Amino acid sequence: MRLKDKVAVVTGGARGIGQAVSELFAKEGAKVVIWDLLDVGSETAQNIIDSGGVAEFSKISVTNRNAVRSDLARINEKYGSIDILINNAGITRDKSLSKMTDEEWDLVIDVNLKGVFICTQEASHYMKSQSYGRIVSASSTTGVFGNFGQTNYAASKAGVIGMTKTWAIELGKYGITCNVIAPGFTLTDMTAAMPPEVIEAGKKLIPMRTVADPIDIAYGYLYLASDEARFVTGVTIAIDGGVTRR
Ligand SMILES: NC(=O)c1ccc[n+]([C@@H]2O[C@H](COP(=O)([O-])OP(=O)(O)OC[C@H]3O[C@@H](n4cnc5c(N)ncnc54)[C@H](O)[C@@H]3O)[C@@H](O)[C@H]2O)c1
Repeated sequence: MRLKDKVAVVTGGARGIGQAVSELFAKEGAKVVIWDLLDVGSETAQNIIDSGGVAEFSKISVTNRNAVRSDLARINEKYGSIDILINNAGITRDKSLSKMTDEEWDLVIDVNLKGVFICTQEASHYMKSQSYGRIVSASSTTGVFGNFGQTNYAASKAGVIGMTKTWAIELGKYGITCNVIAPGFTLTDMTAAMPPEVIEAGKKLIPMRTVADPIDIAYGYLYLASDEARFVTGVTIAIDGGVTRR
């Protein structure tokens, strides 16, 4: 088992990529705490428990510093450490530049960027005192290449890469690694609403000519969260079928 007895918080872990990460980490021996706004998070946790893993669900928004702080204190008290933080929670509110409202901008920046800042800042206090930590955050091909209609999302996802490079410098001496996964097109609820013809057109732009399943992305998180990646920090791993090639 690659994460035996590690304590992992997975934000946005109720469904999609975060669910796959939670299930995989539990299979690899981690004690998984799912933070999400959706009640289905308790089913995700229960399924993990039914399969013999350790998991629990807390209904917490990554934007709520007080809730983040008090649940981390609770988790640390219960399990004795906070070893891994997966900053996966994310949202979209797509509009072209001329139509995007301040509300759409603020909402996406608040969850995708400030939420990652809040969770990392709060979790890093525990990781520093343990001299151990793994922080892996979600960017996107959009954060690297941009995408039509995603000014707010691109800003947030590019920001995650910049913040992570900074944290790698600040936190390295404490034994904490900070890295990014940049998924390409992945079949989840986030992308399910897209018209099939858009999905088909998107596939043609992917060298592998197919989209990812959440588990393809989860394996990247597993590597960066494991002790095998102990000397890897400040990097972005693209899991995108060859779209970004950098
Ligand atoms: N699906 C893709 O193609 C794709 C591509 C690139 C990057 N990503 C990124 O990967 C991550 C996961 O994407 P997904 O496709 O699984 O999305 P999803 O919508 O299926 O899951 C995201 C989860 O985050 C939760 N969430 C949203 N706001 C939250 C908040 N404030 N606090 C806590 N939880 C919150 C949602 O309730 C949901 O369960 C996101 O950061 C997304 O931007 C996804």
